[in-house]
Amino acid sequence: MRLILKRSVLGIAKRSRLVTDVAAYIMRHSSTQTNMKDTYGYFRERFTNNGKDKDANESIREDLVRQFERIDQEVPIASTPTDGLFLAEMLLNMEADGDIVECGCYAGGSSAKLSLLAKLLNRKLIVFDSFEGLPVVEQYYLRDQHCRRSNDWVTDWSEGRYAARLDEVQSNIEQYGEFSVCSLVKGWFNETLTRGNLPEQVSFVFADVDLANSARDCFVAIWPLVSNRGIYVTHDTAYIKVLQELYNPKLWKEQFKSMPPILFGAGYGLCNDSPHIGYLVKGESLSSEYLKSLTIDK
Ligand SMILES: C[S@@+](CC[C@H](N)C(=O)[O-])C[C@H]1O[C@@H](n2cnc3c(N)ncnc32)[C@H](O)[C@@H]1O
Repeated sequence: MRLILKRSVLGIAKRSRLVTDVAAYIMRHSSTQTNMKDTYGYFRERFTNNGKDKDANESIREDLVRQFERIDQEVPIASTPTDGLFLAEMLLNMEADGDIVECGCYAGGSSAKLSLLAKLLNRKLIVFDSFEGLPVVEQYYLRDQHCRRSNDWVTDWSEGRYAARLDEVQSNIEQYGEFSVCSLVKGWFNETLTRGNLPEQVSFVFADVDLANSARDCFVAIWPLVSNRGIYVTHDTAYIKVLQELYNPKLWKEQFKSMPPILFGAGYGLCNDSPHIGYLVKGESLSSEYLKSLTIDK
């Protein structure tokens, strides 16, 4: 019953500021009321408490969470509140050199969150997108299956989906994030993800691009630039064709000339609200302590 109520309130939340505030309150307190581990409220509390005795302490984290919640309420966004927390926890514990890259920003909600973190960590954020939505999609890539959901859940990847103009994205980041650390690069990934546009070293990537061929273009261009202990997060690992592209044996053997690293998360690993997130951490002999530090539930 509580779940149904929560969903209904969240559904109409966009229409009214009052309802939005109520929805945010319910989201925040859902873990303490239901004592469920797999909820936003639970992860929110853990995320904040993880700041104890850290440079990014509890009050910095609480402040970040509030700004994230404002973004979730005010900016159209295609990633979940728990996704935002997982990205933040990884970034706050990351020990890698280089700037942050985002591929696929839609209206800039995820970019605004990343920009707040980039500012805190004194790094640049470079955002790549067509700013025209998805490209024309080849027949093979038009449909993908979700690792976790039933066949009733189908992808809807039509040309122009998730379109948001560059000036709209910029204005959202200016209003809700930290635009001073950002640059936006407009165009199709297979044309814009060049050495000239990318930073020399990349510490963290958030790729959220839906289509398996777009996911492959991003990965092939950026993975070689990811520094030791750096993190490549994709929001598309719940899709089977995306996984097949990222774990294509030929790619690893002939181009990267290495073994693919473990994929964490991906469809089942992090929590029910973040089934799309999967991430790879670069480097050999990474300690389990470092890998564990990147997760919220320590
Ligand atoms: C699901 S949306 C991103 C959602 C965003 N990260 C968020 O949390 O709100 C996917 C984005 O990928 C972009 N995209 C997908 N394929 C692309 C390509 N080949 N070149 C440029 N942009 C692409 C689309 O324009 C769209 O903005």
